[in-house]
Amino acid sequence: MTVRKFLLAAKGQGVFPPPVWLMRQAGRYLPEYRETRKKAGSFLDLCYNPELAVEVTLQPIRRFGFDASILFSDILVVPHALGRDLRFEEGRGPVMTPIEPGDIASLEPESIHEKLEPVYETVRRLRVELPDETALVGFCGAPWTVATYMIAGHGTPDQAPSRVFGYRHPEAMDELLGKLTEASAAYLIRQIENGADAIQIFDSWAGVLDQPSFERWCVKPVTEIVKRVKARFPDVPVIGFPRNAGLLYANYRSSTGVDVLGLDWTVPMSQASELQTQGPVQGNLDPMRLLAGGKALEEGVRTILETLGNGPLIFNLGHGITPQTPIEHVEQMLKLVRKQA
Ligand code: CP3
Repeated sequence: MTVRKFLLAAKGQGVFPPPVWLMRQAGRYLPEYRETRKKAGSFLDLCYNPELAVEVTLQPIRRFGFDASILFSDILVVPHALGRDLRFEEGRGPVMTPIEPGDIASLEPESIHEKLEPVYETVRRLRVELPDETALVGFCGAPWTVATYMIAGHGTPDQAPSRVFGYRHPEAMDELLGKLTEASAAYLIRQIENGADAIQIFDSWAGVLDQPSFERWCVKPVTEIVKRVKARFPDVPVIGFPRNAGLLYANYRSSTGVDVLGLDWTVPMSQASELQTQGPVQGNLDPMRLLAGGKALEEGVRTILETLGNGPLIFNLGHGITPQTPIEHVEQMLKLVRKQA
């Protein structure tokens, strides 16, 4: 089998030049994505359509030859499979009916797989259709981040509704996170069984919590998910991404058991370098440097490569690529990382 550079780095080897991929690399900045998206109907229809989901997953690989491909789906298919209603509104993002403490007992993590079967089908087809050297990353949202959408019913800038919910109803919050932990672990295990080579757990809203809440609502559930996944698949790398965790990044790898730490762009290079002494890191270019291009992009890439380039490093953005990003800037970034510029 061909070597997958991404997997070598994820398992702790220095690889030069570093493997590279982008969070949200399949998406609206690509004209071919916008075309397929029109054909699919709604965004959720696209997530549950294996043929089209495979197509949009492959689009950025064909165009850019990234070292890893990420399954096309969304973190919110898990609450959807648990029976919560979900729709994506143009210009607004996900909308759900806010969950109440009394609704939690009826969530059944065991029953998610039937609804998620199209996602597993997408994974199976992808592993066949991807180039051999391209790793396939499966993913889920971390329970806290998924819960923020279930509780507020939509995205918010600071997750105030979920923090208040957790302080007013601590037992209900634990119960909800417990159900999501069970569903997410089972979901990830199925993705690996069907062909995913690595897993990323997106805790995009980890950074809004105080330390005790971070430990209870972020670290604890993710630790349990990693434990369950590792019990079945000890050699499959797990990437943890507690976005904006700041100083709380320090113990995240050792407490949760994730192999790779996903860093957002606010992590200083000195801290990133320190974290890299304990294992592989992924990140952490500011997506707005990629959008802006030119000197800002060159300097951002150079700083990361100078500080972290000896590895183990997986080059990525510090959060998802945005729809306004020019495609030429992605090409430029790849040349810089792969040193052909
Ligand atoms: O290419 C990839 O990275 C794979 C697919 C992927 C999507 N969402 C597709 C998507 C992944 C890994 C996600 C994760 C996700 N989804 C997260 C965690 C990462 C992060 O960005 O913080 C979160 C919080 C969500 C929830 C979500 N989905 C939001 C808030 C939105 C609306 C924001 C937006 O950009 O419109 C989505 C929609 C979404 N998920 C789109 C895509 C390509 C855009 C929808 C469209 O095409 O109309």
